Amino acid sequence: MDDAMQDTRAQDRATPLAYAGAAAGGMLRFLTCGSVDDGKSTLIGRLLYDSKQLFEDQVSTLERDSRKHGTAGEEIDFALLVDGLEAEREQGITIDVAYRFFATERRSFIVADTPGHEQYTRNMATGASTADLAVLLVDARLGVLTQTRRHAFIASLLGIRHLVLAVNKIDLVGFDQDRFDEICADFRGVVDNFSFTTVTPIPLSARFGDNVTSRSENTPWYAGPTLLEHLETIEVDNDLADRPFRLPVQWVNRPNLDFRGFSGTIASGAIRPGDAVTVASSGVRSTVARIVTYDGDLDRAGPGQAVTLTLADEVDCSRGDILVRPEQRPEVSDQFSAHIVWMSETPMLPGRVYLLKIGTRSVAASVTDIRHKIDVNSFQQIATKSLALNEVGVCHLSLASAVAFDSYEENHRTGAFIVIDRQSNATVGAGMVQFGLRRATNVHHQAMTIDKAAHIRLNGHRPFVLWFTGLSGSGKSTIANLVEAKLYSLGYRTYALDGDNVRHGLNKDLGFTDADRVENIRRVAEVAKLFSDAGVLTLVSFISPFRAERQMARDLMPPGEFIEIFVDTPIDVCRQRDPKGLYRKADAGQITNFTGISSPYEAPVNPDLHLETVRADPVELAERVVKFLIDREEE
Ligand code: ADX
Repeated sequence: MDDAMQDTRAQDRATPLAYAGAAAGGMLRFLTCGSVDDGKSTLIGRLLYDSKQLFEDQVSTLERDSRKHGTAGEEIDFALLVDGLEAEREQGITIDVAYRFFATERRSFIVADTPGHEQYTRNMATGASTADLAVLLVDARLGVLTQTRRHAFIASLLGIRHLVLAVNKIDLVGFDQDRFDEICADFRGVVDNFSFTTVTPIPLSARFGDNVTSRSENTPWYAGPTLLEHLETIEVDNDLADRPFRLPVQWVNRPNLDFRGFSGTIASGAIRPGDAVTVASSGVRSTVARIVTYDGDLDRAGPGQAVTLTLADEVDCSRGDILVRPEQRPEVSDQFSAHIVWMSETPMLPGRVYLLKIGTRSVAASVTDIRHKIDVNSFQQIATKSLALNEVGVCHLSLASAVAFDSYEENHRTGAFIVIDRQSNATVGAGMVQFGLRRATNVHHQAMTIDKAAHIRLNGHRPFVLWFTGLSGSGKSTIANLVEAKLYSLGYRTYALDGDNVRHGLNKDLGFTDADRVENIRRVAEVAKLFSDAGVLTLVSFISPFRAERQMARDLMPPGEFIEIFVDTPIDVCRQRDPKGLYRKADAGQITNFTGISSPYEAPVNPDLHLETVRADPVELAERVVKFLIDREEE
């Protein structure tokens, strides 16, 4: 099976949005999508079988298996051919998209096959960015469903210009032209919302082969092409060679002092020795000296080719930069607007820091604003505070440092990114850049004469941030209060930020949803950073229930200055103490989203200090904190 249906998943595993395969030419990349029982596997199997892509032994195995396990009676069950892979996927190490390769005399094809489980959006987003065309399957009996609308929407979002509406199982509606026309009319109502270049409905039966590779006698009323004919002949403009030159630098190749080259795979455009190039992020210019490859030097290189460029001058350029032509510069910014398709069971929360992977660059980033999400039924824009699994939103993002990018519309490769959860390392979102935001471009850091070092000199101590985290009623404020009093008596300049207090002022607009808690901690962490810049030793006592935000706060401070103190009190003890009567109310259902009861608390895995309040009294614990601090200062 290997030769005929080459499975290139491994190659794609690292970068789901990567451009798969070699130069365009006679190649058509397409994607199939449909709901579970629409017959996707059968259709792909049928295409491979009818276009003679299978070897004799595969065919006989298939025929045997079909009799044994198939659901198609005496006929061949083409789904078995494709579902073998699906079963493999279900065993674990899942990747959501498999690429298969096949060819006819007229054209070669790469099919991105996205399994038909529930997570359609996710599957499409990871498979579709390279596709020229999408085949949307509908069951002729069921017609256009919400799923179909979603698929069309995502396809348009991903910049796919050509759609085929495969009206499958046409045999099950008696090859009825009226039914076909009705579905086509419904579908027109959907696609009118988008700007596809071609939309081609085809009545077919994947199971019996009608209109897949050969014209069906059962649909004399249908004058259009068969599916294969259409795929073989449709003209798609996928010539990446005509686009601006982009070489995302994967690594700087420096085997010895005499050689320095910039290696990567050309995303778009072409390059020759002698061409002027610019490092996108800095604007530094040079000229291409050589195009080096494993097979020797080239005098021209284009999209999909892995090359090493040497330049005429010594220029500063590192992994993650993009080499471009001086007259075709991409945008460079640390803020942009993008469509994000959310792919995780855990909702996306504005303010949370994720890792963003764009091209060869990884950078910390957070969503500063969800402008709206898009309802797939009405295609309306809806206000929201978070994005749930499979939802699509238009978001503003802020990155820890500026990156070079194009809009997704201009370049699928340099305008697409994935979002990674920093705790689990899982891919949780896929994004498509709309445009850079200039908000921060003209705001510069102002250098002050009295800087942090000057404040520290005057105060005579390091400005640590003592971050107390724990359940409500765990004793955070009590201990922080004792610690501050002690430090004050020792001559430290201190300030205590307490959750209850800050929520009366700066954060009085925030409640207790996950999104609001993320924002609550983001703000107080920024305030703690300002205090620390002022040389003040800051005590923060907030529940701060999420690991991600505590990590974010730590990352804001210089190494060693952030001290995470876990005030560990079992919830039953907190409930017993109940200093503010809140547990009683929460248990009675009068407070929603109460930490430990109806809202999560993620205990620190590796805190700097672990205070178990059931083992010692607050005075003793406060002394431990002060001692820890003095030891740390002497380090
Ligand atoms: S955090 O989760 O966002 O860090 P924060 O420390 O600011 O919480 O505020 C917690 C305080 O608000 C608690 O000590 C308690 O007095 C009060 N509170 C009111 N409602 C809730 C709730 N639903 N969950 C937790 N604390 C609540």
